[in-house]
Amino acid sequence: MSVVLADAPVLNVDAIRRDFPILDLVVNGKPLVYLDNAASSQMPQAVIERLVHYQQHEHANIHRAVHYLSETATREFEGAREKVRRFLNAKEAREIIFTRGTTEAINLVMHGYGRAHLAAGDEIILSSLEHHSNIVPWQMLAIEKGVVLRVIPMNDEGELLQEAFRKCFNANTRLLALTHVSNALGTVNPVQAMIDHAHSLGVPVLIDGAQAAPHKAVDVQALDCDFYAFSGHKLCGPTGIGVLYGKADWLEAMQPYQGGGDMILSVTFEKTDYNVIPYKFEAGTPAIAAAIGLGAAIDYLQSIGLEAIEAYEHELLAYATERMKAMDGIRIIGQAKEKSAVLSFEVSGVHPHDVGTILNDEGIAIRTGHHCAQPVMQRFHVPATARASFAFYNTRDEVDRLMEGIAKVREIFA
Ligand code: ALA
Repeated sequence: MSVVLADAPVLNVDAIRRDFPILDLVVNGKPLVYLDNAASSQMPQAVIERLVHYQQHEHANIHRAVHYLSETATREFEGAREKVRRFLNAKEAREIIFTRGTTEAINLVMHGYGRAHLAAGDEIILSSLEHHSNIVPWQMLAIEKGVVLRVIPMNDEGELLQEAFRKCFNANTRLLALTHVSNALGTVNPVQAMIDHAHSLGVPVLIDGAQAAPHKAVDVQALDCDFYAFSGHKLCGPTGIGVLYGKADWLEAMQPYQGGGDMILSVTFEKTDYNVIPYKFEAGTPAIAAAIGLGAAIDYLQSIGLEAIEAYEHELLAYATERMKAMDGIRIIGQAKEKSAVLSFEVSGVHPHDVGTILNDEGIAIRTGHHCAQPVMQRFHVPATARASFAFYNTRDEVDRLMEGIAKVREIFA
């Protein structure tokens, strides 16, 4: 299947699918249909080979020795940082911190900025669309410091209410921590306008980009956000690696999250001088192979083009939404005007876990549950949803298989 997109290169999905060996799996006697990309995407052969090459030819610890392997690993690790810098269009490589993932990146800001700089009565604005990873760390800070959390409400489509958003600000507001794209509903937030508004009031902004960076081009200089976080494993890269982008001035002013090797310039028993950024925030031996694998994943995605990926996934979502709307007894949860390729739904009278189990029998992988976004579930008065989430390697045929699977669920529970 090939789709020609206006102003975008042809996306040859048949060829792309051949890059992903796992897509050839047969599950329960049926060809795998993998629609759980919001939880974790699959890895192309180029990234798998990059990881193997690293282990076979390049592995040693980094930043520590003058021998060949250490210098090679250091060069490749720092090369991956430069790839991330270009991917996000950050101004400087020192603004890119490798973390274990988005969750650790947000926790780093909570500790480094929140614990170090906020006090009782200071306020943080979150949205009702947040993943637990952008709620729980701030609640920990609220308990510890007496910081107040304000939550932007959403409408029945799953869009944040912009007037209510503006009312959340007051003289005590110290941070806006906001998801770019909702993992549970797919809502794409108008982050540019929201960042601009926060900045007009002198409030810094952290963007959780876990569900955005794999699906659309992100330019942190154009957004002008103060922090941006994403994970490697949702971006065709390895688990255990993610990124915190932070403006250099903020990172310089922040306290390190963890102490240990590599984050220091000098240590005595009386005192430690911390290393420069980004190393100040990278204590201990990092996930070297995973960072290099993330660099390879970025190369792979850029060889396809983020604009082409976004346009293709948009078209696929539109097709899936149209097909689902034509079915009886299905409620789509989250129908924002701006959506990424996530389709959360309920099959009338059937628990989402049963939907997931029957679809699995058909070789179809979706996620069921609260998607680590329980406040979103509470807003829609459901304990859980079924969620299909698409990537650029999914096809219309796979959407058709999903719909056939859902029809079977309805038949079984009729
Ligand atoms: N945050 C991931 C998801 O949405 C795990 O499924």
